[in-house]
Amino acid sequence: MRKLSALICLLTISQLLFAQTKPVATPVYKDAKIAINQRIADLLKRMTIEEKAGQLNQLNGGVFTGPAMNDAGQKGKVQMIRDGKVGSFLNVTGVKETKNIQRVAVEESRLGIPILFAFDVIHGYKTIFPIPLAEACSWDLPQIEINSSVSAKEAAAAGLHWTFAPMCDISNDPRWGRVMEGAGEDTYYGGLVAAARVKGLQGNLDDVTHILSCVKHYAAYGAVEAGREYNNVDVSRTALWNKYLPPYKAAVDAGAATVMNAFNVVDGIPASANHFLVEDVLKKKWGFKGLVVSDWGSFGEIIPHGYASDNKDATLKALQAGSMMDMESQIVVKYLPELVKEGKLTMKQVDDAVSRVLYFKFKLGLFDDPYKFSDEAREKATLFSAANRAEALKAARSSIVLLKNANNALPLKKSLNKIALIGHYAKSKEDMFDFWTANGSASDAVSVYEGLQAKFGNGKIEYSAGYNADASTNDKLISDAVAAAANADVIVTVIGISGKIAGEERSLANVNIPDGQIQLLKALQKTGKPVIALVNSGRPLVLTQAQEFSNAIVQCWILGTETGTAVADVLAGDYNPTGKTVMSFPYAIGQIPVYYNHFNTNRPAPEKGDGAWKSRYRDIPNAPLYPFGYGLSYTKFDYSGLSAAKQMEKNGTLNVSVVVKNSGNYDGEEVVQLYIRDITASIVRPVKELKGFRKIALKAGESKTVSFVLTGKDLSFFDGDGNVKLEAGAFKVFVGGDSKNVLEASFDLK
Ligand code: NOJ
Repeated sequence: MRKLSALICLLTISQLLFAQTKPVATPVYKDAKIAINQRIADLLKRMTIEEKAGQLNQLNGGVFTGPAMNDAGQKGKVQMIRDGKVGSFLNVTGVKETKNIQRVAVEESRLGIPILFAFDVIHGYKTIFPIPLAEACSWDLPQIEINSSVSAKEAAAAGLHWTFAPMCDISNDPRWGRVMEGAGEDTYYGGLVAAARVKGLQGNLDDVTHILSCVKHYAAYGAVEAGREYNNVDVSRTALWNKYLPPYKAAVDAGAATVMNAFNVVDGIPASANHFLVEDVLKKKWGFKGLVVSDWGSFGEIIPHGYASDNKDATLKALQAGSMMDMESQIVVKYLPELVKEGKLTMKQVDDAVSRVLYFKFKLGLFDDPYKFSDEAREKATLFSAANRAEALKAARSSIVLLKNANNALPLKKSLNKIALIGHYAKSKEDMFDFWTANGSASDAVSVYEGLQAKFGNGKIEYSAGYNADASTNDKLISDAVAAAANADVIVTVIGISGKIAGEERSLANVNIPDGQIQLLKALQKTGKPVIALVNSGRPLVLTQAQEFSNAIVQCWILGTETGTAVADVLAGDYNPTGKTVMSFPYAIGQIPVYYNHFNTNRPAPEKGDGAWKSRYRDIPNAPLYPFGYGLSYTKFDYSGLSAAKQMEKNGTLNVSVVVKNSGNYDGEEVVQLYIRDITASIVRPVKELKGFRKIALKAGESKTVSFVLTGKDLSFFDGDGNVKLEAGAFKVFVGGDSKNVLEASFDLK
């Protein structure tokens, strides 16, 4: 008996001990050794419908530390995180802020699901690169990839997981402020640039130096009527398939993690609620497995479009179309649970969307270490480092396009005595920066003034503003500028428009060089000194008058942190310009949209001679001032010996080659471009379509044979249903240094 009671006592003690030391089993979703899909399935089982809706909610954040935390709005957002009602924030940046919020999500919400932090890192985070339109003019895909990877590295070091880039919208309209965010007017090139940007941003998403990319604005946002932001879009299905969709697809094929709905309608249906775009094309046809996020408020804006009656209806229509995360409408979080309870949305639909959000949180390793991106020492060491700035300088130089260089006005001689530097934008750093400069500071950037001083010597630069911040001028500003030029060997003047007028919600009806600057140019030209005009702008402006009153025109775009150094390198000839335009420069505003890959029309006007009763303007030429693909060098490239076979089989290839000679006095780089034309087809095809290019370096006097191989893919197009067509018949192939000045040959596809 005593033995028995002793045994019972022992058992009880051991049970107690066991109960105290027994480890609590880690839930499957928190176990890093288990496959992601199992972890997602486990987590979904544990989530309430409200928590699932919360994962699809993306809120605008801001600041959450210090006095900001007394703000009722911020307190409310923090409570929403605790309640599991926020899946992602945009616009919370920096390790301190993001970590603070992440801690609430991970430690104070029921399931501890980490937050995804997103931000518009469009061309750099702290080290600012050239605007995307400018970097595209480099035709240097490896450098473009590096630019994105540096941006990602800085953003990731600042606690971010996700950027809303690349913008893959093809646009022919420089009135649209957002052309600065894209790669220009060409579909083929746009796809290559988009893929490079995705690769640079994302890498393999398995380290702390890359972030999720977001392909936007799906789809056809670049076709907004009259270039007005948030305006209507009306494109044919054949244009959609052939012109607008391919760059988004190229980005998806490159592995883009997320896609953003556009604001506009496509075929009368808002993109956010467009089943054809999201479910049929993106998810089914292209096999996209990633996350679809709305644009800011675009789920709610289905109502003013006239496609939903209220917020609940808008939520239903967006989610039924296959769209997923709600940026700032805050309607999914509110109405999704009701819609499921009413049987209007299935749990399967909801789980599909939520699991895509969770997937990236697992993939980035946030469940295993939610503070993986929260290292203040790394943040400090990474942002604005010398190595990052060196890449920004390379990018800035290669983005610059030399548009005119009469009598070799450039490069400038380093031995010159004085440069008159005219123009408010030459000194004003704020005007060198645009709307999308993330956490970059204009004060960190090198102005043109500083760049020229560093290159030519302090005493050699005589500055005068010439015009005001708003580009207006007066007699005094002009006479001061002329006086500053009195002792100068050359006049360098920065013209154009402020960078602040580039980006979202910055449409312009007038894309001329401001009148005051034209007056200034005229006055400067009268001095008889060479006038070099540097154009500061986030879009192609009408330079028709400017080129009349200047000897050289350098399109500088918005070049970012290293602006002044890059410009000085080009002006001094330490860098021989290699950039080529990726958008046509209109001759006049009335010509817009003007683009190289247009259709021939029923009555094409001859390039020269009598255009009566042809498709023409009576007052201006049809051709743009500077065509797509155009850009000068300090040296000269001659093209000869275009060779191409006369026939090609549909499943075969066609070799094309050309000889390019550097016949000038400088070493240089040339972008050799290949275009095709399908002469007759079941739907009409453009007069030229870019299908290949090579950027080659040639020493002065050197020649190279440049070869291309065309395949059936290059000669095919889409019908209105998205089917690929490869049709036998006559083709032309063109090779040259821009889309206009080309050699041509003909061949037949059998
Ligand atoms: C609206 C813009 O259209 C989009 O491009 C951007 O990413 C979001 N706002 C977030 O800022």
